Amino acid sequence: MDRIAITGGARLNGTIPVSGAKNSAIKLMAASLLTDEPLRLTNMPRLADTRFLGKLLSRLGVEVVERDGADGQETVLHAAEITSGFAPYDLVRQMRASFNVLGPLVARSGQAKVSLPGGCTIGARPVDLHLQALEALGAKIDLHEGYVYAQAPRGLKGAEITFPIVSVGATEHAMLADGTTVIHNAACEPELADLQDCLNAMGAKVSGAGTPTITITGVARLGGATHAVIPDRIEMGTYAVAAAMAGGEVRLSNARPGLIDALLRKLEEAGAGVEETADGVIIRRNGSRLNAVDIETAPFPGFATDLQAQFMALMTTANGESRIRETIFENRFMHAPELMRLGADISVSGGEARVRGVERLEGAEVMATDLRASVSLVIAGLAARGETIVSRIYHLDRGFERLEEKLGACGAQVRRIKGDGEPEL
Ligand code: EPZ
Repeated sequence: MDRIAITGGARLNGTIPVSGAKNSAIKLMAASLLTDEPLRLTNMPRLADTRFLGKLLSRLGVEVVERDGADGQETVLHAAEITSGFAPYDLVRQMRASFNVLGPLVARSGQAKVSLPGGCTIGARPVDLHLQALEALGAKIDLHEGYVYAQAPRGLKGAEITFPIVSVGATEHAMLADGTTVIHNAACEPELADLQDCLNAMGAKVSGAGTPTITITGVARLGGATHAVIPDRIEMGTYAVAAAMAGGEVRLSNARPGLIDALLRKLEEAGAGVEETADGVIIRRNGSRLNAVDIETAPFPGFATDLQAQFMALMTTANGESRIRETIFENRFMHAPELMRLGADISVSGGEARVRGVERLEGAEVMATDLRASVSLVIAGLAARGETIVSRIYHLDRGFERLEEKLGACGAQVRRIKGDGEPEL
C-alpha cells in the first residue's frame, strides 16, 4: 500500500486551487438516476470516492464518462435505462454514501435492493432516518440478510418528514427520492443547497435548502442538465489549517470562505492572518506561535466535524491548552493516539479531547484511520522535526485530489512512496 512521507519544517507559500466538493459530487452523481437524459457535472473532483460511485452507477446501467471539457474536469452520467436495482455489499461497505442510490432507484424504477452499509471507524452511523424518510414517502421497506429491499410500484407519494436529529445524508436522501415532500429539521449544509440547485436545473421544484425546512414539489419528470459542483469547503479548510500550521502565506483560490466561517474565526482567534479575496482566502502566519483555542463541532454553520482532526493537529503546537469537543460522531478521535506518536500531548475523555501544546512535534511513522484523520497527520508532519510517514493513505485518496502536488507547489516536502517501499517516480 502507498504511504506518504513528509519532511517537516518548510513554510508554505503559494496558491492552492480548491477542487469541487467530494461530499456534494457523490450525491449529485446519484441524482443522475432520476432522469433518462444526461447529467453533466462540471468542477468534478477526481477522487477514489467519485470513481467508486461511478463504478456502482455503471453496474446499475448508468453510462459514466469522465472527461476534460471546456470548463475543466467533468463527468457526464446518462441513465437512459436502469438495468439493475441491486447495490451489493462489497460496493456499499466501501463507501457508505453509495447507500444514497436507494431513494433515486425506488423513485425511478419502483424497487431496489441495496446493502446496508455496516459500521464505520468514526461512529455507528445508522441509516434508520434514511429508511424512515423513504417509508414516509410510501416505500415498503424490508430488511433481510443485510439488505434493504424497497418497493414503491406506484411511485413515491408526498409526505411531511420531521427528522428527530439533523442528518446530512438522510436529508439528501429524502430530496433524492423526488416526491412531493416537506422536510423539517433538515440539515443546512451547503451541499444540500448544491443538490437543490442541481435538481432544479433538472426541472425539479425544490426550495429552502440551506434552511431547516426544504420543500419539494413533485414534477412529472426530470430532464438532463449541466451543473457545476460547489468548491470543497473541507479541502479549503484543511489547507487553511495546513498554512497556519507550517507558517507562510497561502492563497486558496476557487473557494468560498463563507462556507468555513467558523474555522476562519477560530484561526484568527489563534493568531493566524485571514484575508478574504474575490475568489477565496489568504491565510498567513509569520512564525510566531499560535495560541490555543477551544472548538466544538456542530452542524453547519458551526465548526465542521470534518475539520476537527485537522484543527486538533494545529493545536498540538499552540501555546496553552485547547479543548476539542466532538458532538457529531461518537468515535472521531482516532487521530489522537497517532498525533501522540509525533509527540503531541493529548488526553481524550468521552467526546472531549484536551490538547496541551508542545514546542515541537517529531516525525514518526503513523497510520491513517479515516479520511480526515489521515490529513491531520499530514498537517502535523508539515511542522514536525524530521520525517513523518503516513501509512494506509488510501483513506486520503478518497477525498483529497492531488494532495502532494498541491502542497508541493507551495514548498512542502511531501512525496508518495509506492506500495513496494520504493519512492514513486
Ligand atoms: C455526511 O455524513 C458527510 N459524508 C460526513 O463527511 C460528515 O462528517 C457528516 O455529513 C456531518 O457533516 C458525506 O457527505 C458523504 P449525518 P452523513 O447523517 O450524512 C446520525 C467525510 O469525512 N445518524 O449528518 O453520514 C449519525 O450517526 C465524511 O467526508 C443517525 O443516527 O452524516 C451521526 O451521529 C465523514 N441515523 C449524525 O446523525 C441516520 O439515519 C449526523 O450524521 C443518519 C445519521
